[in-house]
Amino acid sequence: MSFGWSVFVIVLTLITVLGSLWLLFATAHVEKSKTGDETTGHVWDGDLREYNKPLPRWWLWLFIATIVFSAGYVAVFPGFGSLPGTFGWTSDGELREELRVHEERARAIFAEFATQPIEALVNNPRAQQMGRNLYATHCTGCHGADARGNRGFPNLTDTDWQWGGDAASVVKTINEGRIAAMPGWRDALGGDAGVTAMVEYVKSLSNRSHNPRLAAEAKPKYDMLCVACHGSKGEGNIALGSPHLNDPVWLYGGETEAIFQSIAVGRNGNMPAHGWLGEDRIRVIASWVMAQAVSTEPVVPTAAAAGGN
Ligand code: HEC
Ligand code: HEC
Repeated sequence: MSFGWSVFVIVLTLITVLGSLWLLFATAHVEKSKTGDETTGHVWDGDLREYNKPLPRWWLWLFIATIVFSAGYVAVFPGFGSLPGTFGWTSDGELREELRVHEERARAIFAEFATQPIEALVNNPRAQQMGRNLYATHCTGCHGADARGNRGFPNLTDTDWQWGGDAASVVKTINEGRIAAMPGWRDALGGDAGVTAMVEYVKSLSNRSHNPRLAAEAKPKYDMLCVACHGSKGEGNIALGSPHLNDPVWLYGGETEAIFQSIAVGRNGNMPAHGWLGEDRIRVIASWVMAQAVSTEPVVPTAAAAGGN
C-alpha cells in the first residue's frame, strides 16, 4: 500500500470511528423534558408527540467496548492503513512458519528413508504410502491415476522401460527429465510409399502379420537408418530412450496409422525435469514407480490423447 493510500485509509477510519462516537453521544444525551412527562416536548400535527427513549445503557457500553477493542486490535495487528502493528504479525509470516514446521516434520520422516537404498524402499510400506501420495500430486496429470499412462505418456506399470528401470535410471528420469528425439523419416524413405513399406517391416519385428514383400523392401533402409537407435532386431536403446520395436508395447499406438505417423513425422516425447522436488522426495517416488512396474502384459493405449507430437 502506498503512503498516500495508507494516510487516506487512516483518515477515513478515524472519521468513521469518531463520527460514530459523536453520533452515539449526541443521540444518547437525555434532555430534561420541559413538559415534565416522558416526551421530548416535540409536537407534530397538533397532537403527535415524541417519547424520550435513549439507547439502553448496556447497549451503549457494549458499543464503546467494541470501539476500544478495535483500537487495541489495530495497535497490535496490522489494519490501520499500512501500519504493521506492534506484534509484527503478517499472514505471510504465519504461512512461512507453517511451512517450516511442515518441512521439519517431513524431513524427519525422509531422514529415515535417506539411509536406505531405493530398492529397499520398494518393500517399505511407509515409503510406498508416501510415494503414492507424491505420485498422485505430481505425476497423475500425465501418467494417469493408475500409472498406466496414455498415448505418448508411458505406462509405468509394465516392465518395459524406455529409459531404464533400475533405481539410478528412474531417479535420473524424474530428476532431470527426458527428451526423446525421434526425427521424421518421410523424406529419407522416399515419401509415403517408403514409410508404408517401413511400417510393414516394423510390424515384422514383433512378429505381427505384415506384408512380406514391402517389409523386405524396407529392411535395407531400416538397417541403414534405424539400427543405430532401435537395434538390428528392434531391441531399442535405453541410453537414447529409443523404445523396443520388437514387443507389443507401443508408446504412440501400434495401429498401422500410428506407426506410420511415428515414422513419417517423428516423435519428441518430453518428460519434464522434477529436480525441484528434492532428492528425498524423488527417491521415494522412484521407489513407488519401481514397485508398480510388475505387469508383463502389454497395455494397448486406448484414448487418443495428445502426447508427444
Ligand atoms: C536418433 C535415434 C533414432 C533413430 C535413428 C530412429 N528412431 Fe525411432 N525412436 C527414437 C526415439 C528416441 C523414440 C521415442 C520417441 C518418444 O518417446 O517420443 C522413437 C520412436 C519410434 C517409434 C514409436 C514407438 C512407439 O512405441 O510408439 C517408431 C515406430 C520408430 N521410432 C521407428 C523408427 C524407424 C522405422 C526408424 C528408421 C527409419 C527410426 N525409428 C529411427 C529414436 C530413433
Ligand atoms: C507433463 C507430463 C509429465 C509429468 C508431469 C510427468 N511425466 Fe513422466 N513422462 C512424461 C512423458 C511424455 C514421458 C515419455 C518421454 C519419452 O517420450 O521418452 C515420461 C517418461 C517417464 C518415465 C520413463 C518411463 C520409461 O519407460 O523409461 C518415468 C519413470 C516417468 N516419466 C516418471 C514420472 C514421475 C514419477 C512423475 C512425477 C514426479 C512424472 N513422470 C511426471 C510426461 C510426464
